[in-house]
Amino acid sequence: MSEACTYVVFGATGNLSMTKLMPAFYHLEKHDRLDEAVKILAIGRRDWHRDEWMQSVKEAVMPKARGGFTDQVCERFCGRMDYLQMDILQTPDYARLKAFLADHHWPTNVVFYLSLGPDQFAPTVEQLGEAGLLKEEGGWRRVVLEKPFGFDSQSAKQLQTRLNRYLEEEQTYRIDHYLGKGMVQNLMVFRFANLMMEPLWNRNYIDHIQITHAEDKSVGTRAGYYDQSGAMRDMIQSHLLQLLALVAMEPPASMEAEALRNEKVKLLQSVRPILKQNVHNQAYRAQYAEGVIKGQRVPSYLQEPGVDEGSVTETYAAIKLYIDNWRWAGVPFYIQTGKNMPSNRTLVAIRFKHPPKQFFRESQVKKMEPNWIVFGIQPEESIRLELTAKEPGLEIRTQQTNLDATLKGDENSAYDAYEELLLDVIKGDRSLFLRYDEVKAAWKVVDPILQVWSSETAFIDTYASGSWGPEGAKKLFDHPEQCWRYHYKPEVL
Ligand SMILES: NC(=O)c1ccc[n+]([C@@H]2O[C@H](COP(=O)([O-])OP(=O)(O)OC[C@H]3O[C@@H](n4cnc5c(N)ncnc54)[C@H](OP(=O)(O)O)[C@@H]3O)[C@@H](O)[C@H]2O)c1
Repeated sequence: MSEACTYVVFGATGNLSMTKLMPAFYHLEKHDRLDEAVKILAIGRRDWHRDEWMQSVKEAVMPKARGGFTDQVCERFCGRMDYLQMDILQTPDYARLKAFLADHHWPTNVVFYLSLGPDQFAPTVEQLGEAGLLKEEGGWRRVVLEKPFGFDSQSAKQLQTRLNRYLEEEQTYRIDHYLGKGMVQNLMVFRFANLMMEPLWNRNYIDHIQITHAEDKSVGTRAGYYDQSGAMRDMIQSHLLQLLALVAMEPPASMEAEALRNEKVKLLQSVRPILKQNVHNQAYRAQYAEGVIKGQRVPSYLQEPGVDEGSVTETYAAIKLYIDNWRWAGVPFYIQTGKNMPSNRTLVAIRFKHPPKQFFRESQVKKMEPNWIVFGIQPEESIRLELTAKEPGLEIRTQQTNLDATLKGDENSAYDAYEELLLDVIKGDRSLFLRYDEVKAAWKVVDPILQVWSSETAFIDTYASGSWGPEGAKKLFDHPEQCWRYHYKPEVL
């Protein structure tokens, strides 16, 4: 059960709030995870009454309710909520907000969740600060910032400088909903709770590590945002570099937020800087052309509404990184992400080296496969170990065999990352939120690539929608034996 607090959700009428935040609150309600005194104040620009807001929430939550929607839960949930119309750019509206919170005697521990455009984070925090709403008098005040945090290192620094005037780092919760995914946390458990893994987790045994995030969706209604952002900013700088940090970091002193974040920062700071002259050897970008996904003909990126004519924004990005520390010296890390691919999946695949001696070469037809450990992050949560074993029979023939653990639980144990993160903010647990130095280190990794790409506006390679990305990305591999692994199980496409 959580502590009593008031959740003030800015941008409550927006896409994220309706598709993720409100359903997450509903599920927390359903599972009795919210203290009775938790209140939710939805802030919207629309001149709505409470009833109109409740109706929209109901419509948004209903199709997403796990295990079915019930009026009883919804009534309890709506009983916690109210709606306040505000224009976040208008100073007098913050006085109205302050008066609302005081008049309703709602809990004085307050979370301000900024589900707003990134350019609105600083002005809103400044207004909240000027109105005295961030002062921790009689209760804590916390601010949740959605991603992206900045557009590059410089803009992230400028944003942080503006926030620093009103917010302590301890009050700041930079969300990365990827870190709330059970399997991402399972990565850490797998590494640090299994003694047999640690001796293998280094340059002596691992050939390379790959992270793939594929989506079968186009940019959809987010073209306005995406065309300014691109796959490198939208996925790699944030989520996928976080995954990299969790796979490759040193064991933290404890699972406390600061210990964990210290190790992630150290890892990101150990990534070898990409020199501008090496950008084309270490990074590749492309854009989806027309094609067919799941039998449906789909348009090219340039044909999407809201995309600039002649845009060279990448919908596919791949990078090769090296981590200059003792554990990982010389081991390439390949990361790729793309839209309009054949299916949705996120995989972390660890490929081991071949044994030093191929003892069984004489006795079999084909070469032995190397070992792999593959983490399926989504849609299935799973861990798969690929090993070599002897085929039954008189002769020594080898075959690949797999230990496959699919970890998705039943409906009661299923939850969305946002549910956990919303509760963590109330608990004051920041281990799954990003510290500023982490964000800064991640921008430093991708900045040189973004700078080179931003100067190359005449051409971008394309890949057919419904394919696994551009052929050209293969040039990133250090060795002809290395190739992208798109599948959790190679036999299932
Ligand atoms: N959507 C996603 O799946 C997703 C995923 C990850 C991160 N994010 C991040 O989450 C944030 C919100 O994204 P979104 O997709 O929900 O955006 P959105 O659909 O455009 O919603 C933005 C919200 O801000 C409100 N707003 C804008 N200007 C305002 C003003 N002057 N005063 C009061 N309210 C104002 C809008 O109100 P109106 O409804 O009245 O316009 C709307 O509720 C962004 O930072 C985004 O990058 C979104």
